[in-house]
Amino acid sequence: MAILVCGGAGYIGSHTNKELNVRGYETVVFDNLVYGHREAVKWGEFVHGDLANIEDIEKAFEGRRIDAVIHFAAFAYVGESVKEPEKYYFNNVSNTLNLLSVMRKHGCDKIIFSSTCATYGEPEKTPITEDMPQNPINPYGATMLMVERILKDYRAAYGINFAVLRYFNAAGCDPEGEIGESHTPETHIIPLVLDAASGKREDIKVFGTDFPTHDGSCIRDYIHVTDLADAHIKALEYLNCGGESDFFNLGNAKGTSVLEVVDAVKRVTGKSFKVTLADRREGDPAILVGSAEKAAEILGWVPQYGDIDTIVSHAWNWHENAEY
Ligand SMILES: NC(=O)c1ccc[n+]([C@@H]2O[C@H](COP(=O)([O-])OP(=O)(O)OC[C@H]3O[C@@H](n4cnc5c(N)ncnc54)[C@H](O)[C@@H]3O)[C@@H](O)[C@H]2O)c1
Repeated sequence: MAILVCGGAGYIGSHTNKELNVRGYETVVFDNLVYGHREAVKWGEFVHGDLANIEDIEKAFEGRRIDAVIHFAAFAYVGESVKEPEKYYFNNVSNTLNLLSVMRKHGCDKIIFSSTCATYGEPEKTPITEDMPQNPINPYGATMLMVERILKDYRAAYGINFAVLRYFNAAGCDPEGEIGESHTPETHIIPLVLDAASGKREDIKVFGTDFPTHDGSCIRDYIHVTDLADAHIKALEYLNCGGESDFFNLGNAKGTSVLEVVDAVKRVTGKSFKVTLADRREGDPAILVGSAEKAAEILGWVPQYGDIDTIVSHAWNWHENAEY
C-alpha cells in the first residue's frame, strides 16, 4: 500500500515525502513539475503527470494500491490569482475534482488537503481558531475554501475521509539539508531576506511600518516545514485509526514581525544588507497568528522547531548549498 503525494516535487510536498519514507511509508509522488523540482523527489516513486488529465492520474493508481492521498498540488500566488482567477479555479478546484473522481473509482477513501490561513481573510481576532469565519479576500483563498467545501460534501455523499490542514507561513528547510525551498518566482519572506544577505538581491523591502504592532511591521506565524510534514503523518495516522474528518490550523501560535525576521537573518548569517522601508501592500492584514491547540489536542502534534533562529538557520544552510 502506498501514499500518493500530489505536488510532492514542491516545497512542502517534498519535505512530507521525505518524512513519510523515513518513517517507513511507501510513496508515489505525482507532479507536473510546473513549479516543482525533479531533484527534490529523492524518495519513493515518481510519476510525471498533470491533475488536469484524468489519464495521468490513472497512471499513478495503476498497478498499485493507493491507501491515501496527500494533496499539495495547487497554485499559490495571491497576486496572480487576482489577475488570472481562471487559472486558479481550474487548477485548484477543477483539477482537485479530477483527483477525487479517480480516488472514488479506485476506492481510495482518505485525503489530506493543504489549505491555508488565507481562507480566513482578515480575521477579527488572533490567535485564529478553526471555528472563526472564513471570508477569503482573494481568488487563491477562495479556491482553497471551495475545496474544503467539496471535501465536506464528498465525505457526506461518498465516504471519502479528509483532514484539511490550514497552514500559516511555511518556512525553513530540511534540518539535514537534503532538500529545501526554491520557488520561482519567490515571494516568501525568509528566502527573500536570505537572498539579500547573500547579495543575490540588492535589498529587502519591508512593506508597511505603520501597522498596529510593536514595531510597525506586520506579524506572521512561521511554521517549520518539517513540523508541517510531521503534522501530515499525524493526520494520516489519525484517519487510519478511524478519526473523524476535520479541519486543523497548523502554526506555532507565535507571531514574528517582518523586522524580527530581518534581525534573525542578520544574527544567523552574520551578514549586513540594505533594508528598504516601503508602503503597505493592499490586503496585507496586520497580524496572522493561528491557534494550534486543536491539532495538539486531536492529532497530538507539537512543533519541534518553533524558534525563528532555528528556522532561519536551516533555511540558510540550504540556501548556501542549494542543489535546485
Ligand atoms: N508555502 C506556504 O507557506 C503555504 C502556506 C499555506 C498553504 N500552502 C499550500 O500548500 C500547498 C503546497 O505549497 P508549496 O509552497 O509546497 O507549493 P509548491 O509550488 O512548491 O508545490 C506545489 C507543487 O504542485 C505541483 N502542481 C501544481 N499544479 C499541478 C497539477 N495540475 N498537476 C500536478 N502537479 C501540480 C507543482 O509543480 C509543485 O511541485 C499549496 O496548495 C499551497 O497553496 C502553502
